[in-house]
Amino acid sequence: QMNERESMFLVSTFAKDYFHDVMLNSNKGKAIGLSYFKERGFKDETIKTFELGYCLDEWDAFTKAALAKGYDLKYLASTGLTIVKENRQFDRFKGRVLFPIHSMSGRILGFGGRILTADKKAAKYLNSPESDIYHKSKILYGLFQAKKEIAKQDNCYLVEGYTDVISFHQTGIENVVASSGTALSADQIRLVNRLTKNITVLFDGDAAGIRASIRGIDLILEQGMNVRVVQFPDGEDPDSFAKSHTTEALKKYLEDASQDFINFKVSLLLKESNNDPVKKAGVIRDIVMSISKIPDGIQREVYVQECARIMEISERVLFSELAQIITKGN
Ligand code: CTP
Ligand code: MN
Ligand code: MN
Ligand code: MN
Ligand code: MN
Repeated sequence: QMNERESMFLVSTFAKDYFHDVMLNSNKGKAIGLSYFKERGFKDETIKTFELGYCLDEWDAFTKAALAKGYDLKYLASTGLTIVKENRQFDRFKGRVLFPIHSMSGRILGFGGRILTADKKAAKYLNSPESDIYHKSKILYGLFQAKKEIAKQDNCYLVEGYTDVISFHQTGIENVVASSGTALSADQIRLVNRLTKNITVLFDGDAAGIRASIRGIDLILEQGMNVRVVQFPDGEDPDSFAKSHTTEALKKYLEDASQDFINFKVSLLLKESNNDPVKKAGVIRDIVMSISKIPDGIQREVYVQECARIMEISERVLFSELAQIITKGN
């Protein structure tokens, strides 16, 4: 069993080196893959730090190279690098630029592959399938490159995408990781919790992104961590914003736009409830539910006071609601 996983790590490491080498040293790799990253403003050093790569737009160029090196088709298949169909073999990531996904200690667990054309039929990103080494709900993209700085800054920026992580790192903000499009999980938060108690969630500036992230945030509170949120302007994500601003302006934005999560949630829900009393009651229960997740009693009390003020209701109402939820055991 252990050997199986070991073999999967080995072939994944080979793939990472192969795709990186093809991109930097072959004609097509340079013309297609490398130019793509260059056009997005990624520098050579950044491309090396994140070990970015490119899979040639041929059916099985990578698979053939791996087999020629003696890697077993069994592990090419179990890692999903090769798709085996009726005795024929295809490269899963054919024609895509690749973001290798590292474990906390730097081992290669899988890949995210981005399509280069705006082909409506194919998914923009294709990821490695779940396997014995790749569990997407237990991985944070960029953690390997970010861990030192997360501990040093005592804060972790959480973004949605691969390119958000890379752009921030390149501009000098290295304490950043991505949930990579999946709903945030308790396991992912635990990885950060070992390094810092402070998470700042950066939302893409679209309503869908905000809605989805709010659910995950209660999980952060449950682990006794402090959550702040930063919302980007409509249509922007951390990558695009970083590209159109200086590092100083970006840092200032992160400071100025950052809000405590509970306050953020209260104002968001209140705006949506439009002063309708029935909806407002729902908002109160929703907020109190979030507060009930916080393990520390003193911290809960501070939030109750703060929310009572913002929502213009008495603390007593909030405390009795809170007591009910806590006795029901959530
Ligand atoms: N994602 C995914 N599969 C998709 C779309 C998105 O796995 N079909 C994940 C990727 O990890 C992606 C993240 O969700 O990085 C955020 O998605 P999105 O904001 O759409 O992509 P960006 O990261 O902004 O990518 P780009 O700037 O290259 O368009
Ligand atoms: Mn660096
Ligand atoms: Mn998005
Ligand atoms: Mn995005
Ligand atoms: Mn983007």
